[in-house]
Amino acid sequence: MTVSIPRLGVNIDHIATLRNARGGLHPDPVRAAIVAAEAGADGITAHLREDRRHIRDEDVPQIMTATGLPLNLEMAATEEMLSIALRLKPHAVCLVPERREERTTEGGLEVAGDSNWISHVVRRLAETGIRVSLFIGPAEAQVRAARDVGAAVIELHTGAYAEAEGEEQAVELCRLTAAATLGAGLGLEIHAGHGLTFENVGSIAAIPEVKELNIGHFLVGEALFTGFDAAIREMRSRISQARERSA
Ligand code: PXP
Repeated sequence: MTVSIPRLGVNIDHIATLRNARGGLHPDPVRAAIVAAEAGADGITAHLREDRRHIRDEDVPQIMTATGLPLNLEMAATEEMLSIALRLKPHAVCLVPERREERTTEGGLEVAGDSNWISHVVRRLAETGIRVSLFIGPAEAQVRAARDVGAAVIELHTGAYAEAEGEEQAVELCRLTAAATLGAGLGLEIHAGHGLTFENVGSIAAIPEVKELNIGHFLVGEALFTGFDAAIREMRSRISQARERSA
């Protein structure tokens, strides 16, 4: 039996955060994308935030051409970001909620509560050939709303699972598993990400419906000790082992 291993999208935002801390060119997120490709990443993920605290506009086309890998551009569903994505045409766009004061993407998108606008954005992106994913919490209403607005993919927010411990973490894992099963049953492709580490990635990689994991902060932190290449290789291997064990 062939086991399908989830793809690994390497999020390079925090290479850019470090670069921006000094306002210069180093470390270069484009170089990080090249290293990630060599280490076996299946895609590059980057979040063009409204305040440009991670990657900047000019990074996007460079990241797209530096490796043969697909770019998954995370962005808020705003007019500004929509026009940038329609111009640059990344392989995929992941729509995320965004608040300036947050340190990272704290919650999932409220698809159910904003479905007219989100379906407009999804349609415009999809018409241009961009694969659209919605970053949502593992709630039934959000999964169903994602299907109703025409998204091809949902990325399940694993932040609450990553922060929880013991029994609480088991509950979060059940919620993610149920949302993945429901979403796949509705014809959606299932991705997951946020807060994943060597320690907690296995249970998420083992969910059979999960086709892609997007991981950034932990890999960049780990790179300080072992190198970006080694951290990505180790993450890939843990993902593969977890999926193979669960098959
Ligand atoms: N997926 C999405 C949609 C995100 O917004 C983020 C964080 O930017 C990630 C995945 C990666 O999360 P982390 O950096 O915690 O691995």
